[in-house]
Amino acid sequence: MNVPLLAVADGERADRDAFRHDVLAGLAETPRAIPAKYLYDARGSALFDAICDQPEYYPTRTEAAILRQHAPEIARLAGPGCALVEYGSGSSVKTRLLLDAMPDLHAYVPIDISRQHLDTTARRLREDYPGLRVDPVTGDYMALDVLPDTIGNAHRIGFFPGSTIGNLKPEEAVLFLRRARRLLGSDGALILGVDLKKDPQRLYDAYNDRAGVTAQFTLNLLRRMNRELEANFDLSAFAHDASYSEAAGRIEIYFRSLCDQAVTVAGCRFHFAEGERVHTEYSYKYDAAGIAELARRGGFSTAAFWTDPVRLFAVAFLK
Ligand code: TRP
Repeated sequence: MNVPLLAVADGERADRDAFRHDVLAGLAETPRAIPAKYLYDARGSALFDAICDQPEYYPTRTEAAILRQHAPEIARLAGPGCALVEYGSGSSVKTRLLLDAMPDLHAYVPIDISRQHLDTTARRLREDYPGLRVDPVTGDYMALDVLPDTIGNAHRIGFFPGSTIGNLKPEEAVLFLRRARRLLGSDGALILGVDLKKDPQRLYDAYNDRAGVTAQFTLNLLRRMNRELEANFDLSAFAHDASYSEAAGRIEIYFRSLCDQAVTVAGCRFHFAEGERVHTEYSYKYDAAGIAELARRGGFSTAAFWTDPVRLFAVAFLK
């Protein structure tokens, strides 16, 4: 597809304006917070892929094992000739497990905020699955309400893996599910991956890998502000800060100022006290009953529910 250069430049300018607006607003709030979607620029998306390979980060490989084991049943539940719509596709590694089990898919529609990541992914998939129609959509899946026309009236099967639903607050997760329900239609379905509640130390370790990749991922946000918003964050004066709150049932992720300091972002000066934290993301953990309740409130019913043998992670097929 040929996209006029001017349109690309306009798109980039709009993206940057939104980033500046959200960062300045988030740093002016108390407590401070920056929306997690900005973690996923090209470098952030690559770092996230590297997190998934860390020995402590069990969700990716556990979910992949569940999908691999149950792919034939998932394909059967989805039915022939459907369109697979992936929310926040990243590099679509897990998707391949489904694509391999669904050879008669009508189309694959990956949705991702990182245009660059999406382009690479779409190109690779077209190479590896020559008969497959790949119709990528760039954007924020929380705001998406139409899919490409090319899908026609194929059954729409959503795929929301990686426990990304846990990065939404429970009320937002319900809103997301309701939106998905509307987008996917009454004959659609949603394949949902959710991280389960478990030993807090195991959860802590998953977000504090020894190699420090998760820390780099968090601090990449500061690097991105430096590059795109003419900020002057000193990356050695801030630290990644992730801990599990049992009361809230969530991992809480921040970057923390290691000293008293001032930083300029897009021409505005912000003071950071030593120990002050800026929130980036939550990662809510659910149990089986919590997932069923979420699904119900979102307008779905649970047609199938699978976990690994030690119940680290769950995949639900919602209708
Ligand atoms: N959906 C992933 C999760 O909640 C996202 C994630 C993993 C993440 N590690 C992270 C987000 C570290 C921010 C920082 O597990």
